[in-house]
Amino acid sequence: MTHDTSPARWVRWPAAHPLVGGGRSLPANTPRLAYGADYNPEQWPETVWADDVRLMREAGVNIVSVGIFSWALLQPTIDTWDFAWLDRVLDLLHANGIAVDLATATASPPPWLTELHPEVLPVNRLGETIWPGGRQQWRPTSPVFRRYALALVEKIALRYADHPALALWHVNNELGCHNVYDYSDDAAAAFRLWLQARYGALTALNRAWGTAFWSQNYSTWTQILPPRLAGTHPNPTQQLDFARFSSDALKDYLVAERDILRQITPSVPVTTNFMVMGEVKGMDYAGWASEVDIVSNDHYFLGSYPLAFEELSFSANLTGQIAGRNPWFLMEHSTGAVNWQPVNVVKAPGQLRRDSLTHLAHGADAICFFQWRQSLAGAEKFHSAMLPHVGEDSKVFRGVVDFGAELVALAELAGTRTVQARIGILFDWDSWWASELDSHPTDQLRYKVEAMAWYTAALANGLQADIVPVGTALADAGLAGYDLVIAPMLYLVPNALAAALDDYARSGGHLVVGAFSGLADIDDHVYSGGYPGAFRDLLGVRAEEFGPLLPGQTVGLEGTGLAQGATGSLLTHDVTVLPDVEVLARYDGGPFPGVPAVTGRIVGAGRASFVATVPDAVALAALVERFAAQSGIDSPLPAAVRGTVQLAARQSYTHEYLFYINHTMEAVRVGGIRGAGLVGIDLGQSSLTDGELALPGLGVAVLRRSLETLSAGAV
Ligand code: GLA
Repeated sequence: MTHDTSPARWVRWPAAHPLVGGGRSLPANTPRLAYGADYNPEQWPETVWADDVRLMREAGVNIVSVGIFSWALLQPTIDTWDFAWLDRVLDLLHANGIAVDLATATASPPPWLTELHPEVLPVNRLGETIWPGGRQQWRPTSPVFRRYALALVEKIALRYADHPALALWHVNNELGCHNVYDYSDDAAAAFRLWLQARYGALTALNRAWGTAFWSQNYSTWTQILPPRLAGTHPNPTQQLDFARFSSDALKDYLVAERDILRQITPSVPVTTNFMVMGEVKGMDYAGWASEVDIVSNDHYFLGSYPLAFEELSFSANLTGQIAGRNPWFLMEHSTGAVNWQPVNVVKAPGQLRRDSLTHLAHGADAICFFQWRQSLAGAEKFHSAMLPHVGEDSKVFRGVVDFGAELVALAELAGTRTVQARIGILFDWDSWWASELDSHPTDQLRYKVEAMAWYTAALANGLQADIVPVGTALADAGLAGYDLVIAPMLYLVPNALAAALDDYARSGGHLVVGAFSGLADIDDHVYSGGYPGAFRDLLGVRAEEFGPLLPGQTVGLEGTGLAQGATGSLLTHDVTVLPDVEVLARYDGGPFPGVPAVTGRIVGAGRASFVATVPDAVALAALVERFAAQSGIDSPLPAAVRGTVQLAARQSYTHEYLFYINHTMEAVRVGGIRGAGLVGIDLGQSSLTDGELALPGLGVAVLRRSLETLSAGAV
């Protein structure tokens, strides 16, 4: 792990920041960890509110998000407003020392608006209208929606600008959760403007979209449409640009709300809740983060996912990287089951704590839930909450209270930054969008699954990896802090990125390129002359054909360090190699028997490796172990607990905080710990005796050691 102790990189929030303030046992104006939930008091009679704040205090709740779905109550008709109830809510919260993340209430337009202006309703690619009845039924590019929504934002901002409970603005809610892809006429008009800004001239667009193919040449801008339902595969670059445009259109809307808020309350930070989780891929959050003052994320544990813990850890890490390794805000997760999966799995005892602390380990300074009090009506009545249907005399509420106490005891972590790992795994929305388009050699490859496979392989070796937005490679500091950089399925590689990665490897790094990478340029045109064109010269390889495998089909992999029975699946490449390339594994069977499957090569002061198939989990872990060893990276964890315990770290100016996360149900012991002691009150019942840490199933322990001890040589 790399240690950066320069004071400039140590976060100091201004006094008005939501992550600064008093708390149960904190003096005023000290950094704190925030704890809370979405609070929807409008669903309850006012008599319940007093009970809410009493129980919030008992749980140590110090911030709640209010007003997210309140538009229809705040503005019951086009020209009537009712803020009185919200005034009372904010006053009550403030009187009880609870800060407010106040929503702009624009997430779901009221029925009067869509009745009056049905032209704000989104349209899907089949031309069907998305009607009211659910939520978020608005077009991101609708000028009419924008007029009404921004008027509401201004009204709320002016009314609550000086309210003492106001700590943070919450723009809309989960922008793009249900409406990222809109194919309406408004979207078509906005798409054309976006394309004009990108390409300038129609000739440039025609070239980029390859419209000589299938007679698609455009002679006027008005002929261009979103990729609506077509008879066969729509133009791939049109689809890719529409994905880019759709993300930008929502970002533009975020900026429009934010600008109003900043103008009225320049000192109140602005956030909006991202959805870095699972297969949510519509919004390029790496490009959104600089538009908000605090990065927030919503993450739900995907109980039915085969690698659910790894997915949580991956998403938390990516959120932290998007936030520039500064503290971020976990705006929503759940105390237990959700309501929107086919089968909504309950959380195991200890899991609320483990999941929350895993987010904290990756830089979250706020741990919040959806929602405070479980609804009795509506589509989310079976979604868990901090205060469940059964009431305060419940396992869930006792767990919530206990965890609140633990967060108070961990207050010194507030404002600390995550420690950079030595392994970086590149992550790129363009490649995600482009690689999963139709009419490819196989439709079986999934971008996030591939990226997660590499992250899981690092964890299996007891190694921490960062999920690094690909733009980092082009930034000033670049990838210099990473000894090993992995590019899983980096399908789309613009020239500048290819050059930056080439430079990274030749100047002493180790670049590992995964299957189905380096194939296309920024316009999704194939690099000719042999695959993978963007990395061919660096890797010293040349492939002529793809050899996709049928679902369930595998091909044997034979090579040093790989166990008997190692396999690849989904895709192979028929690779020939230059004489200085070392072949680490070959295919045993499949479309290209005996052909190199894994290669490596010294390039300049560094190294470049290629994994030309999708190895099974054990084989991938063995390859990562080898690549890490070649890069001089060793796990700080004893061999026995690698793959069972994740070790992640944050640091302040003076201390390092080590999170030992046992992500299995079995108790484990981690020996060899020196110079560090437990922090907090650890109601998860870990113990540290004579350098041996005992962690129960799902146990997480936070250890502190001084950076002085560290520089004196303790491990
Ligand atoms: C999202 C929304 C919330 C709620 C939760 C349920 O995160 O922001 O309003 O619907 O999902 O999990």
